Amino acid sequence: MVIDYITKPVDIEELKLIIDKALDLRQLREENEQLRNRLQERFSFDKIIGNSPVMQEMFNTLALVAPSDATVLVTGESGTGKELIANALHENSKRHDFPFIKINCAALHENLLESELFGHEQGAFTGATSQRKGRFEPAHQGTLFLDEIGDLSLTTQAKILRVLQEGELERLGGNQTISVDVRLVAATHKDLQAMIQESTFRQDLFFRLSVVPVHLPPLRERSTDIPDLSRHFFQKHAIKNRKDIKRFHPEVLNIFMRYNWPGNIRELENTIERVVILCW
Ligand SMILES: Nc1ncnc2c1ncn2[C@@H]1O[C@H](COP(=O)(O)OP(=O)(O)OP(=O)(O)O)[C@@H](O)[C@H]1O
Ligand SMILES: [Mg+2]
Repeated sequence: MVIDYITKPVDIEELKLIIDKALDLRQLREENEQLRNRLQERFSFDKIIGNSPVMQEMFNTLALVAPSDATVLVTGESGTGKELIANALHENSKRHDFPFIKINCAALHENLLESELFGHEQGAFTGATSQRKGRFEPAHQGTLFLDEIGDLSLTTQAKILRVLQEGELERLGGNQTISVDVRLVAATHKDLQAMIQESTFRQDLFFRLSVVPVHLPPLRERSTDIPDLSRHFFQKHAIKNRKDIKRFHPEVLNIFMRYNWPGNIRELENTIERVVILCW
């Protein structure tokens, strides 16, 4: 893209001005883009589809709890929309201008996970060649989404409990206490109550996390949401795959309503995407 031009012989002062102008323009464009993304993301309850009574009830709870700083525990089978809810809680809170940071507790082994969460000082363990901040620190004033919380070891559970209770942490191998103001949203598909009985999940942490529990029922228990969800996904994937699909056969919905969707909404979406791609 041409921003300006210079004539020979080059005047250094003029060149500097032109470069400054180009940099300003780039910064403006980036800021503009960020702002546009934010606007699209915000107030995202409308991205959550659901006319069933349980979902309507959920929207009421979300509207009440989102603006507060309460810790929310989102439970539900795989693909029921736990991450979508976590996002909506952040976007509809007063923290929405600060970061929403996600960490999947099942993806990393205990030591790596702790370093990822709390950070480490140089030399804290073999391979810790430099200091590193964990995810809690950049989430300051924002929201930290702890996904798959049922996969935390008991030691890590204790450390997270401390941050929740005191709002303080130390990086691994460090002795400086760092204060953080972070709202936690946690999610799991596991039965934490059963894990408490088996002593694999701390009851005190459970109470702390589930100040407001939000349970997403499996899709088969809210099949009245299937028509709206299906229309939404057909439209989305028709646009994405540039297919001219105006409607689908009513029998499709009948089949969808009878199926039990073990993979829930993610499975419904994947199925529809496949159908859209394969249709001509
Ligand atoms: N009510 C809903 N309306 C629209 N889209 C939804 C809804 N619920 C879930 N989805 C979509 O379904 C997909 C799966 O949702 P999400 O990733 O939030 O599920 P999850 O419960 O976190 O699953 P997992 O346990 O496997 O991580 C996403 O693409 C999400 O946008
Ligand atoms: Mg998820």
